[in-house]
Amino acid sequence: MYYCMLRSFRGNNFIQLARASVSQNPQLWDTSLKLCTACHTTHSPISPLTHILQRHRSQTASYRCMSSTVRRRRMPSAFPVIDGTFHPFHKHVYEANLRNSLICQQKYLDHKQKVFKGGGENAIARHTQRNRKVLVRERLRMLLDDENYLELSPFAGFGLPYGDIPSAGCLTGIGQINGLWCVFIANDATVKGGTAYPITVKKQLRAQDVAMQNRLPCVYLVDSGGAFLPLQSEIFPDKNQGGRTFYNEAVMSAMKIPQVAVVCGSCTAGGAYVPTMAEEAVIVHRIGTIFLGGPPLVKAATGEEVSPEDLGGATLHSEVSGCVDHFATVESEAYEYARNIISTLNYELPEETSTRPEEPLYSIDDLMGLAPRSYEYSMDIRLIVSRLTDGSRFQEFKARYGTTLVTGFARVEGHQIGIVANNGELTYEASLKGSHFVQLCDQRDIPLVFLQNTSPVPPHTLSQAKAESNTNRLKAQGSMMSAVACASVPKITVVIGGCHGSDSYAMCGRAFDPNFLFLWPNAKVSILAPGHSDALVQTEEEITQINEMLEDESSAFFSTGRLWDDGVILPQDTRKVLGKCLKIIKQQEYQLSREKMRTPLLRL
Ligand code: COA
Repeated sequence: MYYCMLRSFRGNNFIQLARASVSQNPQLWDTSLKLCTACHTTHSPISPLTHILQRHRSQTASYRCMSSTVRRRRMPSAFPVIDGTFHPFHKHVYEANLRNSLICQQKYLDHKQKVFKGGGENAIARHTQRNRKVLVRERLRMLLDDENYLELSPFAGFGLPYGDIPSAGCLTGIGQINGLWCVFIANDATVKGGTAYPITVKKQLRAQDVAMQNRLPCVYLVDSGGAFLPLQSEIFPDKNQGGRTFYNEAVMSAMKIPQVAVVCGSCTAGGAYVPTMAEEAVIVHRIGTIFLGGPPLVKAATGEEVSPEDLGGATLHSEVSGCVDHFATVESEAYEYARNIISTLNYELPEETSTRPEEPLYSIDDLMGLAPRSYEYSMDIRLIVSRLTDGSRFQEFKARYGTTLVTGFARVEGHQIGIVANNGELTYEASLKGSHFVQLCDQRDIPLVFLQNTSPVPPHTLSQAKAESNTNRLKAQGSMMSAVACASVPKITVVIGGCHGSDSYAMCGRAFDPNFLFLWPNAKVSILAPGHSDALVQTEEEITQINEMLEDESSAFFSTGRLWDDGVILPQDTRKVLGKCLKIIKQQEYQLSREKMRTPLLRL
């Protein structure tokens, strides 16, 4: 009998059946496991949950949420405490790093201040007084549980060839709604009417990527005049441009990643598809409009004068077209609707743990003096590790082999991780060790954290022996790249110093698709570090020119302005950010279903 029930009660019903069985009669549940449909096991000495998780994880991932109905105990671990004291003879290095970090921190704070001003005073006045709309950060305050959200790439859009676009015209990040982590994508209409610049599109696509990779629901706050017309050729035609947002919306829906849109301003042209393709949409009366071409376009085409409200306002779309599902009289009501929609998703939340994780034994503020001002100023990476991990504990792996890479296990805010950290050049031995450790973590389902500080120069080939050793190193680095690329566990990369050359790929650079990648403000990102191009160019003039270019283009702020990362974070915030990311990543274990492709929800 239970065999039949297992067959016919796949998915949510099955989960409810399982819960009922477990709570009412654990023995029955055992009996049903004896007839497991997936492997026809007739008897198992282990619990049904363990059986399913261990044997049928991929096919039966939809059962994973059951884990929350069963009390799980973490295996005790007391990794050894590592020595994080630095020697007095490193004092001058520490002080030089600190001086540089303070300058970088000031730059970070200046950028932050600029970002908070959005499109400037006039645009803010137009937005709040003339258009009677709420500013984007205030909207987030109404939507999210609290201000404890992770903002992604806040400095994207600065220093671009077409000018400074504060926050790239749209805020993205991950915040909690009724306890559930959700990605938000919120236009800032004080920046040129919320129109989409190429960098805006890139930022939106990255946020959707984050939602897909971490299986997070996504909320769009739409207030946009569509494409920024003077740059239309860089927004419209290519694969990863405007249309990709809508393509992603469909794919995300098919992946069972819920999407909710709040129309709190203009949704013109392409923007009109965002709420229309979302699974549920809310519109704000007298503020929200949805149309492919606005009143000026209608007038130009037909000579007819029509108000935005009549052409595509809240009444039309909620009563006639059906493009939206909820009519809000004021903005605050719209965010309340959005919060209530999220609570209908039927997700489960991870259990709150009462035990507080151990703090590191060494001060996190020391990280400012450990953040290398250049590669030559790097200190033992264990000094940094000891200031990030719970209780400064670290179970090092292969401590005596390939010592220019440090690998090992630790916890950050209670989450177990595998750390892969540069401690010099990525040599042959270091790369082999890296491959081994990455695969170990993949086997054990442990997320990886890469602390990247790669060498600024490629190895020179001066003799046959050196050529051989470089070839071996090439092969070993290739293996490490394969191991990193194919590891199915979540990966987080923090560039704490240099991000240069091919070593950076093996250390899970952007191209290797980490779930999150952050930079410290002292970080340098370029194929070669400034001052190392002499062997590659001929004249003094060329050398100076290339070095100046590398200096400008390698700064963390240049990089983050172009969205090559998920943001610049201060060294002293790293532990907090890592802890938050690990919590966010973990949420997917509690979803009802992890099935891959279904059809998207269609608004018929
Ligand atoms: N491309 C480039 N710039 C645009 C733009 C667009 N699509 N839409 C608006 N802007 C600019 C305006 O020129 C103005 O620039 P300024 O601050 O330098 O003067 C700024 O954005 C704000 O626009 P404004 O019309 O003054 O603000 P608003 O709040 O009254 O209205 C919109 C905002 C978006 C509703 C309105 O500008 C509009 O309808 N724009 C056209 C939308 C459209 O048809 N898009 C089609 C794209 S394919």
